[in-house]
Amino acid sequence: MPENKLELFITYKCNNDCVFCIQKDNRQKHKDLSAFKDSRDVFNTLSFYAQKGYKYINFLGGEPFIEDNFVDILQTAKKLNFTTALATNGFYLADKNIAQKALPLIDELVISIYGHNQKLFAKLSQNKQLYANLVKALKNVGIYFKGRLLKANCVINLYNYKDLLNIIKFINKNNIKEVNFTSMEILDHNKPYAVSFGSIKPVIKKVIEYGHKNKMIVRFAEVPFCLLGDDYYLADELFTMDRDIYDYNMKKEKPGRLKRKIKKCCGCNLDMICPGIDTEYLGLFGEIL
Ligand SMILES: C[S@@+](CC[C@H](N)C(=O)[O-])C[C@H]1O[C@@H](n2cnc3c(N)ncnc32)[C@H](O)[C@@H]1O
Repeated sequence: MPENKLELFITYKCNNDCVFCIQKDNRQKHKDLSAFKDSRDVFNTLSFYAQKGYKYINFLGGEPFIEDNFVDILQTAKKLNFTTALATNGFYLADKNIAQKALPLIDELVISIYGHNQKLFAKLSQNKQLYANLVKALKNVGIYFKGRLLKANCVINLYNYKDLLNIIKFINKNNIKEVNFTSMEILDHNKPYAVSFGSIKPVIKKVIEYGHKNKMIVRFAEVPFCLLGDDYYLADELFTMDRDIYDYNMKKEKPGRLKRKIKKCCGCNLDMICPGIDTEYLGLFGEIL
């Protein structure tokens, strides 16, 4: 049965300015936009969707924790029996007070981890304080998070692809046993950070081996399945197909990334299940994988 899922933008504000960020344009366009006016507005909106039958809510951003009333929003969602999910850069969870209040209200927590040291985090997030805060946040997550899913998401790009093995080691060291490596969605502003599938292929192999050895769940999102070879079953899309995602702000079903097949797909034994390759990627790198 598909799980009725609601995706809700809380804010477009963010404490970081990630060079690859998918929301960069929205953040510039709606700089000061928060989704809710006050707690009454939160309650009314969430109860409207609870009555419509939505049982799962994914809070999108920007950075959800940048909103002062985010803990209240989570509390309201739990009162209405929603399963709560969100992705965060972790910055604000370094604060024990926030972590202690917020983490028990989250069922599915995704932490963006696209580096393994201060230098890489600072370069990609353009926030020199992020790494130090994240390290503290991960300790707090270990103590206060009691939800059903804890996962890291690493956006693969030109500046971190050589370090994917170090990144998965960092994630494991911080007791996160599930990780998605997501191929960067290419937009006009982040083209200089795009990396070809051919370059990441040898690193992916090592990451998969490390994941197996360390009993981690490792998945790859938005890559052509053939890139994973015999490990194609680790393609994230095979686990997420059955979702009915409604974007509250766009007032429609959320569109996926635009993909197409290439000549090489013809005769590939994964052709039936693989969604193909991003058209933006093909525009940049051509059909050479
Ligand atoms: C836009 S962020 C907002 C939530 C939060 N501030 C964070 O950093 O996780 C939501 C997710 O999108 C991912 N993301 C950002 N830019 C992306 C891109 N160009 N392609 C694919 N995923 C991207 C992030 O890693 C994160 O997991």
